[in-house]
Amino acid sequence: MTRIILIGYMGAGKTTIGKALAKELGLTFYDLDWYITSRMRKTVGQIFEERGEEGFRQIERNMLHEVAEFEDIVLSCGGGTPCFFDNIDYMNRQAPVVYLKATPEVLCKHLAMSKNDRPLLRGKSKEELIGFIQQQLEKRSPFYTKAGYTLDVSLMDDYTKIQNSVAQLRTLLNL
Ligand code: S3P
Repeated sequence: MTRIILIGYMGAGKTTIGKALAKELGLTFYDLDWYITSRMRKTVGQIFEERGEEGFRQIERNMLHEVAEFEDIVLSCGGGTPCFFDNIDYMNRQAPVVYLKATPEVLCKHLAMSKNDRPLLRGKSKEELIGFIQQQLEKRSPFYTKAGYTLDVSLMDDYTKIQNSVAQLRTLLNL
């Protein structure tokens, strides 16, 4: 049985790398946000609007406990998932957890296009975005660094680099 969990800030490439890794290893890929959306029949944005962040975190925790029991999967979590409740400790018990680490500048670049799909970033200017990311990363790092493994993905940008990150991940996890 193989199970791998990816964590990291929004825009780190968890979904892209997770999908590529799952494909190479013949595992099923799950993205926690997509799972929540399909189970709740609501987008993450709608859940935030209707129940606030607190309501979303509760649902996210419950859904994490469902998906992280599945076997032969790669699970990519939301940027905030490891930072609430005892989620990171639970994840560490369920699977090897990899923190995909990137600098605020790289994250900001990746998020500039998609920030409006993310309730926490919506409406922020470029200047506000980088400051917000820096601040949040500081708060979240103690949770992220509880992962058993860390992979620096700051250089990941195009296809070759994604493949490179997947190869590095396989070496890291001995897979
Ligand atoms: C969040 C990250 C998002 C999503 C929600 C909150 C966060 O997931 O779960 O918008 O708190 O960092 P991605 O990291 O997949 O964008």
